[in-house]
Amino acid sequence: MAEKTTIKLENIKKVYHVGETMVHAARGIDLTVVEGEMVAIMGSSGSGKSTLLNIIGCLDRPTEGAYFLDGKDVSELDKTQLAAIRNKKIGFVFQGFNLLGRVTAKANIQLPLIYAGTDNKEMDDRVQEALNWVGLSSYLSHYPNQMSGGQQQRVAIARALVNNPSLILADEPTGALDSKTSIEIMSVIQRLNLEKGITVVIVTHEKDISLYCSRIIQLKDGRVISDAPVSNPRSAAKDLEAFPEEDMEVAG
Ligand SMILES: Nc1ncnc2c1ncn2[C@@H]1O[C@H](COP(=O)(O)OP(=O)(O)OP(=O)(O)O)[C@@H](O)[C@H]1O
Ligand SMILES: [Mg+2]
Repeated sequence: MAEKTTIKLENIKKVYHVGETMVHAARGIDLTVVEGEMVAIMGSSGSGKSTLLNIIGCLDRPTEGAYFLDGKDVSELDKTQLAAIRNKKIGFVFQGFNLLGRVTAKANIQLPLIYAGTDNKEMDDRVQEALNWVGLSSYLSHYPNQMSGGQQQRVAIARALVNNPSLILADEPTGALDSKTSIEIMSVIQRLNLEKGITVVIVTHEKDISLYCSRIIQLKDGRVISDAPVSNPRSAAKDLEAFPEEDMEVAG
């Protein structure tokens, strides 16, 4: 079967104007990601990782260059069209979880479905299914401040997957978590990739985290300086077995 190209970037440039100065955050990036890959984007602070991820996620538009998402040219779309594409195809996970603090897990997870106009019954089913999937089946009515960081990130992942996206983008998803919780979150993200076949692009500072991916891209000063497959990606589920049983977070 031919590989399906999910992301194709051609000579992407991004310039930010700050007062009189121009900041070149992306200086001509070419990148192709095929369906089912799990890609890590690494690089020092300011190298352009978030800029690139935001362009891939249709949250921001390049100054120059072409972007094809699932074969469709999205570089020329306006804000409303980009929002529609995001809602349909892309799930986002962030370092700070980005949950609404004043509403329950359920209300957070159903937001993308509300935007998509899903009816109530289907919405309830899909929210429950997403929560089950991240191992938090009984957490529908919990508020973010009643959950641990790892649990909040699982709710954020449930929100990201509730619309059945073909692509999940994560910007430092373990940046705010301790090492064991980070591996737990990586095991959820690996399952998204392996069991659901969702293409994943994840920005991380941490070498350990990048080794759970199938490919590592290094950015420097807005350019790709290396792009290499990981010969034997680590299994986060396996690595978790090394932690004592009583330390495991009780899910559900
Ligand atoms: N909205 C913006 N306005 C102006 N400059 C910006 C903006 N966003 C990013 N930049 C600049 O673009 C460059 C790349 O920033 P970016 O946030 O993509 O880096 P990063 O690799 O994600 O860094 P970090 O690891 O610190 O998150 C930096 O020089 C940054 O200051
Ligand atoms: Mg960043």
